[in-house]
Amino acid sequence: MNSPLITLENIDIKARERSILSIPSFELQKGEILGVMGPNGAGKSTLLKTLALLDPPQSGSIKFQGQTVSDSSALVVRRKIAVALQQSLLLDTSVYQNVAVGLKIRNRPKREIKEQVAYWLDVFKISHLAKKHAHHLSGGEAQRVNLARAMILEPEVLFLDEPFSALDFPTKVQLLKDIKQVVEETNTTTVFISHDLMEIKYFTNRLAILIGGEIKQHGPTEEVLAFPNSASATFIGEWNHLLS
Ligand SMILES: Nc1ncnc2c1ncn2[C@@H]1O[C@H](COP(=O)(O)OP(=O)(O)O)[C@@H](O)[C@H]1O
Ligand SMILES: [Mg+2]
Repeated sequence: MNSPLITLENIDIKARERSILSIPSFELQKGEILGVMGPNGAGKSTLLKTLALLDPPQSGSIKFQGQTVSDSSALVVRRKIAVALQQSLLLDTSVYQNVAVGLKIRNRPKREIKEQVAYWLDVFKISHLAKKHAHHLSGGEAQRVNLARAMILEPEVLFLDEPFSALDFPTKVQLLKDIKQVVEETNTTTVFISHDLMEIKYFTNRLAILIGGEIKQHGPTEEVLAFPNSASATFIGEWNHLLS
């Protein structure tokens, strides 16, 4: 059954007169794990920023659960969204404080914050790092803190922009397994940008191919990869060729 969480209509984003994202219509369904794949400069990060309401669109409309997002409602909706980027951008303090910050801003009681931070540190297997300074972590550890910091907000939608690109292979595989389990257990709608077919195949159940600012194909991940249409065939074909 269709239950659109975020709907885009007639989105057109230009930078220096050049169109960088053009989406006539798009729906992110509740509960799906959507992969977004495409070449460098295709507009993937721009699409993520648009869906996550980080950049108001210059034209068109965005709906969240069927309601048009206005300037005044954007703040409320944004509280239902969490974003994790490739660079974890952790604060200059302990791991504990980094994970606690979102709940502190929301003025949650101290005891609840303590319980929640302990819970999410445990989920992401970083309890032993609680007192460590965030700037002294390995890349994989920092990304775990970054994900714990996002998930503690219990977001309706989690946006991940190439979060594992800078990690070595074993670190990436372990983290992929863990985040997949967390997202599935919490039933969190997720948008996952990646340029890695292995990550996309393992983690996502829907896939959008973005090329030149346009969604060329969108459907179940296995279907899109097995039957690329003529527009996305060049891009997916290169991957299939590489892996065959
Ligand atoms: N603020 C900006 N000003 C000018 N050009 C931009 C800006 N942001 C993105 N672009 C351009 O828009 C295109 C899409 O960028 P981006 O969404 O970052 O692509 P991707 O994440 O797929 O690599 C690129 O050609 C990029 O150079
Ligand atoms: Mg990008």
